[in-house]
Amino acid sequence: MSTVLVTGAAGFIGCNFVRLLLSEASGDYRVIAYDSLTYAGNLANLSDFEGNDRYSFIKGDICDEEKVDEVMAQVDVVVNFAAESHVDRSILSSREFIRTNIDGTRVLAESARRHKTGRFIQVSTDEVYGALGPSGYFTEETPLSPNSPYSASKASADMLLRAYHHTHGFPVIVTRCSNNYGPYQFPEKLIPLFVTNLLEGKKVPVYGDGRQVRDWIHVEDHCRAVLAVMEKGKEGEVYNVGSNNEQYNIDITQLILEHLGKDESYIEHVTDRPGHDRRYAIDSTKMKEQIGWEAQTEFKQGLHDTIEWYLNNKEWWSAIKTGEYLKYYEKQYANR
Ligand code: NAD
Ligand code: TYD
Repeated sequence: MSTVLVTGAAGFIGCNFVRLLLSEASGDYRVIAYDSLTYAGNLANLSDFEGNDRYSFIKGDICDEEKVDEVMAQVDVVVNFAAESHVDRSILSSREFIRTNIDGTRVLAESARRHKTGRFIQVSTDEVYGALGPSGYFTEETPLSPNSPYSASKASADMLLRAYHHTHGFPVIVTRCSNNYGPYQFPEKLIPLFVTNLLEGKKVPVYGDGRQVRDWIHVEDHCRAVLAVMEKGKEGEVYNVGSNNEQYNIDITQLILEHLGKDESYIEHVTDRPGHDRRYAIDSTKMKEQIGWEAQTEFKQGLHDTIEWYLNNKEWWSAIKTGEYLKYYEKQYANR
């Protein structure tokens, strides 16, 4: 049985990945969930696994060299989800993004190298490629051209790991996925923010004209892709993960409004995000041809199920949308 260290396990994608690893359908994995529980980390996301003898949780920072070293001694595979992940927060301050996303990745990689751990899967993002015009797709050969402090920090980690592979033969594999949606996403990102605002009777803040395009993938498809790469990917390679599902923000907004029986008066067009990337679109041919993975969730069904999840889990998100969150919301959206 291999032991997988899942960092950032208490966040959105991390907790869905832990669920996949512990499900009957996956191989026999033992999971060490490691997370410092920042504003985005939530132990409630992992409460289903308490008492499972293949699961343990350790509260720790990926920048803490001693703690990481202690844990790494028991690990066979690392999957690094831990990150500061929100573009808007990186515009307000980039400090934590540089610390966690770059230095934290270095700490993990150094420790994995010392312990001669097996594979290291770095969960990166399509945002490292920058923005596309109206046509074309990101491939694994597209030059990195990050535009936000968030994507610049993720691109830096990718570059560092590339160099570790080249110099030290470090067994890293990088995945670059498009925008995820699904259960347990923190309500600062587009879909859960808009759904929960409407459930609270508030308006939804659409940046600029709302004609930006994202290539949305269900989080469970992303998690299956990461697992497939962990099991079948080639060390030193990069794999793009996407669902061939480009959507304008304004169209997603309309779908959410319709589902919740609200009209357009709930839309508030607010000042655009500085440096806002206009379009992302992923070519994931390599995943299909070399790994045999393809996304399975149809978008309208996936969005429907996600909205229903937020409707049925009001305690989960209302506990979050208080205190610290309110301060962030005020800073981010007041006077916009
Ligand atoms: P998230 O913000 O929901 O979760 C991040 C988790 O990391 C939180 O639980 C947080 O507590 C933890 N964390 C942050 N700093 C830490 C530190 N220093 N030490 C230990 N833990 C720390 O993010 P997410 O949406 O689940 O994204 C996970 C990963 O996937 C990120 O690396 C992100 O760049 C990448 N990614 C996300 C998307 C997306 O659409 N959400 C798309 C592609 C790639
Ligand atoms: P987001 O979920 O923050 O993901 P990313 O910036 O990583 O793509 O945003 C998705 C899209 O939605 C992006 O084009 C910005 C837009 N957006 C809004 O229009 N209003 C909002 O309040 C938020 C959070 C995002």
